[in-house]
Amino acid sequence: MFCDTHCHLFKEYYDDVEELIRNAYQNNVDRMIVSGCDMASNREVLELIKHKEIFGTLGIHPEEVHDYKQEDLDFLEENLSNSKIIAIGEIGLDYHYDKESKEKQIELFEYQLKLAEKYKVPVVVHSREATNDTINCLKKYQVKGVIHSFSGSLETANIYLKMGFLLGVNGVITFKNCNLKEVIERIDLSNIILETDSPYLTPVPFRGKRNEPSRIMNIADFICELKGVSRENLAKITNQNIGRVFDI
Ligand code: NI
Repeated sequence: MFCDTHCHLFKEYYDDVEELIRNAYQNNVDRMIVSGCDMASNREVLELIKHKEIFGTLGIHPEEVHDYKQEDLDFLEENLSNSKIIAIGEIGLDYHYDKESKEKQIELFEYQLKLAEKYKVPVVVHSREATNDTINCLKKYQVKGVIHSFSGSLETANIYLKMGFLLGVNGVITFKNCNLKEVIERIDLSNIILETDSPYLTPVPFRGKRNEPSRIMNIADFICELKGVSRENLAKITNQNIGRVFDI
């Protein structure tokens, strides 16, 4: 059985979460980690984790940099003691649409890294067109975790691995014209975990359709083929990897 280590099963995207969970279970996905991004989704995470198959992370995403309030960060901190909240995320830096807010994004990111260090919880990191700043921020704190939706170069991958991070691999690996396949080919399986990032990044051959946790199997099968391992071995190795970073 596999774990979808990063998905957003929120009302904004789905009105059939119960069905999604059943569907996941029927497709060899028995655990899911839902990732909050703002106050509304963080509140939903706290509801979703009442399902026994679901774990959660709470965080303020860099896209919220203009909208978040201090009380949102306080709410996050107050709920870290919940045993099914297993990390702070998704947090990080995203310069794709908004370079002007660099400093403010770094401030928000570092605030949450500081919390992770203080409470000794891992982090789920979002980094888009911001590799150097992400690495510099992470290096300032004693934190571990996962680089979610990793799609960088082999060199970047090795920097993160040296720092003790895992790489979250999703449907992007199945896309044509993407170098992630070549990077993952050269990386030991002990360094990766699987995620869908549902509802986004639907793997081939379902691109254009809504993504959901059961599609972990399309990503898994792609990696099995790429790395020459069985489903059973890939599940075993990735579950061990998850256990190294997350307390689930
Ligand atoms: Ni995400």
